[in-house]
Amino acid sequence: MSKIEKRIDEIMNRMNLDQKVGQIVQPERMFVTPEEVKQYHIGSVLSGGGSTPGENRLEDWVDMNDAYWAASMDEDENHIAIPLVYGVDAIHGNTNVKGSVVFPHNIGLGAANDPDLLEKIAQVTAKEIVATSVDWTFAPTIAVARNDHWGRTYESYSETPDLVSKYAPRFVKGLQGKFGDENVIACVKHWIGDGATLHGIDQGDTCITEEELRKIHMPPYKAAIDAGVQTVMVSLSSWNQEKLHGSKYLITEVLKKELGFEGFVVSDWDGIGYLNESFSEAVALSVNAGIDMFMVTEKWREFIELVKEHIASGRIAMERLDDAVRRILRVKLVSGLFERPRPSERKFSNDYSAFGSESHREVAREAVRKSLVLLKNDENILPLSKDARILVAGKNADNRGHQCGGFTIAWQGVRDNESIIGGTSIWEGIHDVAPNAELSIDGEIANPDKHDVAIVVIGETPYAEMLGDLRVPGLSKGMKVSRGSTSEDHTPEDPFPIMKEGPYGTHLYHHELHPEDIATIRSITSKGIPVVTVMVCGRPLVINDELDASKAFAVAWLPGSEGNGVADVIFGDYNFNGKLSFSWPRYDNDNWNLGDEKYNPLFPYGFGLRYL
Ligand code: GLC
Repeated sequence: MSKIEKRIDEIMNRMNLDQKVGQIVQPERMFVTPEEVKQYHIGSVLSGGGSTPGENRLEDWVDMNDAYWAASMDEDENHIAIPLVYGVDAIHGNTNVKGSVVFPHNIGLGAANDPDLLEKIAQVTAKEIVATSVDWTFAPTIAVARNDHWGRTYESYSETPDLVSKYAPRFVKGLQGKFGDENVIACVKHWIGDGATLHGIDQGDTCITEEELRKIHMPPYKAAIDAGVQTVMVSLSSWNQEKLHGSKYLITEVLKKELGFEGFVVSDWDGIGYLNESFSEAVALSVNAGIDMFMVTEKWREFIELVKEHIASGRIAMERLDDAVRRILRVKLVSGLFERPRPSERKFSNDYSAFGSESHREVAREAVRKSLVLLKNDENILPLSKDARILVAGKNADNRGHQCGGFTIAWQGVRDNESIIGGTSIWEGIHDVAPNAELSIDGEIANPDKHDVAIVVIGETPYAEMLGDLRVPGLSKGMKVSRGSTSEDHTPEDPFPIMKEGPYGTHLYHHELHPEDIATIRSITSKGIPVVTVMVCGRPLVINDELDASKAFAVAWLPGSEGNGVADVIFGDYNFNGKLSFSWPRYDNDNWNLGDEKYNPLFPYGFGLRYL
């Protein structure tokens, strides 16, 4: 038996029922104190998107983690010292935290098609996470998104499993490394088929055969497990009407036994509650399905009592609880958590020298450059001259919040420059190198006597998860979205206000989702000024009108904080590199994917122009 398995046995032989049940619980930080972590023997705490301590500085994160960790390690006659593991959604940088580098979201990284760069991004992300003394990130998302209507398409690298399977192990290795001081625990998500729900409805139903599930959605998980990923998060979606959180077949039989996954499986945000009207029944179903750690954000005390009741009644076998605890202890031992000093004494805690550093920003800037995809370049209008008299317009030209997208500072992202400390907007990047450029967001000052060319930056505004869906009325299902958009929104009375707005829209036609964009383009071309359009978006959209009105058209996806990477390519310092990792639709109802019959997108998978 290995040293680790022996160590697990030693610890488990000392644990009583309360300590075992506490170890499998993960409350959200707004609903648990350090004192309760010790009292209830809690194994993990998380920050939901935008749930940030104090002033949201490194020291606030380290102080918070120090308090939770110290409580978990304060051994006495009732409590065994087992280090708490803290989890966050650092999915494109440690982007809950002010001043972090914000990398392009996964859809852009897919277009970059550069696995080495991906591993470098993961290593930098891990460094910016350990500066806050957090141990675990719920990343990478390895969804194979098959419907552009899905609000989480931008979290997917590609519509095909090949690229995702190439990327998954590299990102896992970049985060986990050899579990040194600069490494964190990775979490691949969301098991399984989250990107293939009917109509792209978030948390909806993936109605496909097992053969397709295995062929399209399983390969990235196999690659990640082979690379040693330590945790897997279960999807909130269903497979043929069965919620994944209750699927013993897919969690225990396939993921754990067939694929040999030996880390632990974590539920998604209150996902067990979807299994049954009765929370007690839901608890039994989800534990018996094979989930090991339970992200039960508020009702965790009730969860603990119900698990103990089910153990007493035999509804949950002690072996199942022991399996969950064993797996959690294994991950904590394998990742070195037991050996790590308290958060405030760790080597990189509060290390501002690397957090948001220029060298980290250079990696993100390279990723922006490599992710840009050129769809049109009539008369080779690009690259532009840096001396040209350029008008820069469009609602996304000078808005670092918009170019970062969701899961940035707040769950739903932010919509200004001020919230993103550091970095450059696309406009700022252009203006840094082109002294004759001027900004007019609506393009009003366009004047052919003063402007040779216009760059119009259009696209989407930030969203996350179900609020990014494009859902035809009647398909949408009511969703109590129990999470605020910023930490300022959280109040003691209502820490997670219900989000007011509904889904993003109902279809893929950009000229209807954002008519202001085609209006801006046309207002400028009507004065005889040619337009180069740059699109900031989290997914392919139907852009026939905008494309026709533009002389050149480039997709920047959600580039993150280093908007200057766009100027690097627009002015020719670097060539375009990006190739579409998602087929680009011709109409709203032709959400084709590579390999489909009658495949006939506007731009095919792998398309991308370059300078001659
Ligand atoms: C969310 C997401 C998941 C995220 C988790 C914690 O609902 O589905 O991707 O990791 O909650 O924020």
